[in-house]
Amino acid sequence: MRKVSKQHLQKNGGGLGDDEITFAYDKEQGIKLHKDVWLKMSEQERESKTLVLDVGCGFGKEAKYLMEIFTKARVVAVDLNLAVIRAGLDLLETNRIFPVVSSLFRLPFKDLFFDHVHCQGVLHHTFSTEKAFESIEKKVKKDGSIFIWVYAWEDSFGIKGIRGFLVHLYWFVSHRIFRPILSRSPSFIRTPIIYFISLIFHPLIKNRGINRNREWKFQNTVHGIRDMFTPMYAERLRFNEVLVWFEKKDYMVSVQSPLTYEKLFGHRLLGIGYVGRRY
Ligand SMILES: C[S@@+](CC[C@H](N)C(=O)[O-])C[C@H]1O[C@@H](n2cnc3c(N)ncnc32)[C@H](O)[C@@H]1O
Repeated sequence: MRKVSKQHLQKNGGGLGDDEITFAYDKEQGIKLHKDVWLKMSEQERESKTLVLDVGCGFGKEAKYLMEIFTKARVVAVDLNLAVIRAGLDLLETNRIFPVVSSLFRLPFKDLFFDHVHCQGVLHHTFSTEKAFESIEKKVKKDGSIFIWVYAWEDSFGIKGIRGFLVHLYWFVSHRIFRPILSRSPSFIRTPIIYFISLIFHPLIKNRGINRNREWKFQNTVHGIRDMFTPMYAERLRFNEVLVWFEKKDYMVSVQSPLTYEKLFGHRLLGIGYVGRRY
């Protein structure tokens, strides 16, 4: 069998790019966001988790946060993107993260297997967010927990006045027109368009909001624009409809903490983040 070097994997393994502030937060912020805003678990509960599944782990940055938050756990990090292979050797070096290439619709694990299933920013990129939820929640043990975060309809349609109109217009133009075309076009068309949009947006966002006083590079903007405009699906959900999914499967739900988020990061929390505990 041919031996594949780490350098070869890093060069050829997958599509996503990554660095310290990809997906907006650095390591310390990322851990606080997960621990204090989204999960809000007692130390005792965190320490009781010995097997965690991170679904849609991308480059595995979040799996590393989970490893620090759940100090006694092994973390199985799954993604269908070959970026997992690219990140795989680094993740394996932690001795506690185990990368797996798989679709969340065909997870190669027994049902009722994990103490905690974690899935942030992934389900809304599938053909059916609810079916995707059903596929991963099956893996949660009795008495276990699941965290999901998905796009919220209210974030873009709940804003009033001119600002609301502009946000609405932005979503319409970008997600009804640009994203469906870009996500289906070949990369020789998609890539230059992504770079072109990034060139326009980079000066506008590099020193704004959470990016102020940080080394937000052009490559971070490109990654953000790619994340926004190239997924084939990007569904926005309503708070109540997501609660129904948890209710149907007998979970008690605790909700994310917008106030803690505002105190930590200075602006409003977006999306729907729920922890469900099986009862
Ligand atoms: C926006 S990224 C989020 C990555 C990570 N959770 C984070 O926040 O850093 C969405 C990820 O979901 C993965 N994904 C999308 N559909 C998937 C599926 N059906 N099965 C497994 N992973 C999937 C993509 O490959 C991508 O890495």
